[in-house]
Order: sequence, then structure tokens, then C-alpha cells
Amino acid sequence: MIPIRLGVNVDHVATLRQARCTLYPDPVEAALIAASAGADSITVHLREDRRHIQDHDVQRVIQRSPVPINFEMGVTEEMLGIACKLKPKYACLVPEKREEKTTEGGLNVAGNLAAVRDACARLMKAGIVPALFIDPDPAQLAATIQSGAPQVEIHTGRYCDATTDAARGEELMLIMNFARIAHEAGLEVHAGHGLSVDNVGPIAAIPEIVELNIGHALIARSVFIGLPAAVAELRRRMREARGQ
Ligand code: PXP
Repeated sequence: MIPIRLGVNVDHVATLRQARCTLYPDPVEAALIAASAGADSITVHLREDRRHIQDHDVQRVIQRSPVPINFEMGVTEEMLGIACKLKPKYACLVPEKREEKTTEGGLNVAGNLAAVRDACARLMKAGIVPALFIDPDPAQLAATIQSGAPQVEIHTGRYCDATTDAARGEELMLIMNFARIAHEAGLEVHAGHGLSVDNVGPIAAIPEIVELNIGHALIARSVFIGLPAAVAELRRRMREARGQ
């Protein structure tokens, strides 16, 4: 089975910094620590309201990270301009609402195909590899295939939030089928949202999924055991689930 990569999202290091508008903790320093502890890439989400990651963080992390940067962004002129100027290696297009606590649900690619296709073309022209963050929904997958994006990230929120074993099992089946069909269509398949050391196993075991992007639970865990140990623990759990 292809090894699975871990992308570490450092947004919530910036959330802690912004709570007091201090200079610490620095998400760029967190990115460097996560990379030396085994993260394969670093994710930062520059939200329209700048609630955590700031523009200078994106610039600094792209300059300093030894591993590739995955820039999460809404499909807006502003974010396209920033991405094309700063040129992260990857960009993941996500839906964004000001009032939400986090990215609730996937991008409606089917309902905005022309805009998403145009955004993907502009990113690829700038040398950036785009991914679309979508729910495990066949209509969104069909639109993603038409968008020209070479990568898709499955929103695992419903799987993580399921309150019964039956509901979680159903979500897992949906994700497994979706991952297989997306892979067969030639897309590189990623997953993320709500994943933790406790629930990551069954997702990491899906052979078509080659990258997981994990933030909140990992940064929360690092408060108690430290960031290098939290990254190592997650990597271990992912490898075990994959039988590697
Ligand atoms: N992937 C994408 C596209 C996201 O928007 C997020 C949340 O910012 C994540 C992964 C990580 O989710 P979490 O912070 O719940 O691990």
C-alpha cells in the first residue's frame, strides 16, 4: 500500500497567539517543529476575517518551511491574488462563511463549477497544485472531475461527529466508496477535518487516501504532550492502521 502522508495544520497555534495579540506562539515555529517531527507538509488557512493565520504568517512559512505548504483558501479574488503572488506548492479550495467556527461542510463545486474551474486554471498557471475540499457526495465528485483539479480532499466531519457506531460505520462506507471512485477517476485523494489519534485509524486504512490534513485535535493534544510527541503519536497510529 502507498504510504500515507501527514499534513499538519498550524492555524490553532495562531488562534492562541491572536487571543492576546502577542508575537507568540508563532505558527511558523510550530511548522518547523512539526516538520522535524515528521510532518510531510504544513497547512495554513488564511481566512477572510484573519481570525488566526495572518498574511505575514503565510509569507514566512512559505519562505522557511522545509516541507511543502498547503494554502487553504476561499474561492475569492483576494485569495487567488495572494496565492498566485506567494506561490505555495499546494492550494486547497474551501467554502468559507464568516459566522462559522470552522469549515462546515465541503465546497459546492457542482453549484459553482465555472468559478471553481477558473480558480483551478489560474492556480495551475501559477504553478500551484489545487485540491477541492468536498463532502463525500457523488454530485460534488462529478463536478470536481470536470473542474480540472488534480486532487480532492474528503471532508471527514460527518464521520468524526457521528454519535453512534452505526452512523460512523455508514459515513466510513461512504468515504471508502468515494475514495475508490475518485482514485479510479485519476484524482489524488486526501482527507481531513475533525481527525484525531482516536478516530484516524479507519480513515488512514483506506488505501486510496494518500494524505491526511489534521489540525485542531493535534494542536490540542500538543498542549499536554508537546508538538513533536503529538505528531509522532499520530504518525504511528496512521502507520499502524495502514499495516506499515
Ligand atoms: N482540511 C481542510 C480543508 C480544513 O479546512 C481543515 C480545517 O481547517 C482541516 C483539514 C483540518 O481540520 P481539523 O482542524 O479539524 O483537524
